[in-house]
Amino acid sequence: MLKKNNLLQEIKRNFIKFNQEKKNIDTLKKLVLLKIKYIGKKNKLSNYLKKLKIFSVKDKKKFFILINYIKKIIKRELIILQKKISLDVYNIQQEKYIDVSLPGRVTNSGSIHPITNTIYIIESFFTKLGFQITSGPEIENKYYNFDSLNIPFDHPSRNEQDTFWFDKNNLLRTQTSSVQIRFMEQNKPPIKIIAPGKVYRNDFDSTHTPMFHQVEGLVIDKNISFSNLKWLMYSFIEYFFDFNVSIRFRNSYFPFTLPSAEIDIKQNNKWIEILGCGLVHVNVLKTVNINPKKYSGLAFGIGVERITMLKYGIKDLRSFFDNDLNLIKQFK
Ligand code: DAH
Repeated sequence: MLKKNNLLQEIKRNFIKFNQEKKNIDTLKKLVLLKIKYIGKKNKLSNYLKKLKIFSVKDKKKFFILINYIKKIIKRELIILQKKISLDVYNIQQEKYIDVSLPGRVTNSGSIHPITNTIYIIESFFTKLGFQITSGPEIENKYYNFDSLNIPFDHPSRNEQDTFWFDKNNLLRTQTSSVQIRFMEQNKPPIKIIAPGKVYRNDFDSTHTPMFHQVEGLVIDKNISFSNLKWLMYSFIEYFFDFNVSIRFRNSYFPFTLPSAEIDIKQNNKWIEILGCGLVHVNVLKTVNINPKKYSGLAFGIGVERITMLKYGIKDLRSFFDNDLNLIKQFK
């Protein structure tokens, strides 16, 4: 005859055994077997339940609660164990690929060259005013670089010493003004463009490099006047230099504009030239078949290196082209 005490002892032993066996479980396979053994269909605990028939209702209830309670604990233990084993398996798999104790790798991020940065700022200003960005070839012929721009045949800039000639007709453009002509040939007014790009001159010292950048600007419309030009140039310079400058318009001469002006800004009590501008010369308009009685225009050419040096206090023009990372890195 089964005694209450014996059954109690057996249940206890069973539980102790489970706790011991649990310690040796290190794979999911073993875990499944343990699960079948202790809480599977034919497990010992369920067997005990069958034997309860002989007890009084009160004892039956007690045992029933106890057995189910132990079953619950075992189930919970098995879940914890399963999580632990799964995690171990995962970690072992990952270890092959990742050593989480390694320090992070530093990747050097690139930065924008100060010249590019300035061109971006210029583009951002003018495109907000509805200007279109355009470009022209760096290898030009003398028609676009000189003749069409009303530059006299004996003008010194055509000289061997200033211009890189390929032959009698072809050259590296000395100014982006050539893009004005190319654009006006292809498009009818109203025109509002800027043309950033490289230009070349045979010059090399601390204030001259054989290649440098200009941004050309051109507006052709009805009633374009010098006050439009003045407003545009003031607005741009104030935007570029954060309202931190004194600006001066100075009378000047360019063959393709009349009147012409140069703009200086003041730094360390000195006036420094930053761009040339003017109202498009009637001869230039005629050359591209734009009626000067109907339309007028303004034009300007900004020296990109010059304004970048002034904005950031860079002393030597050549440092833009030295590929010195310490300079470039400052322009993130
Ligand atoms: N092309 C001139 C230069 O290289 C700069 C310039 C002056 C451009 C006046 C213009 C202008 O469009 O109107 O020195």
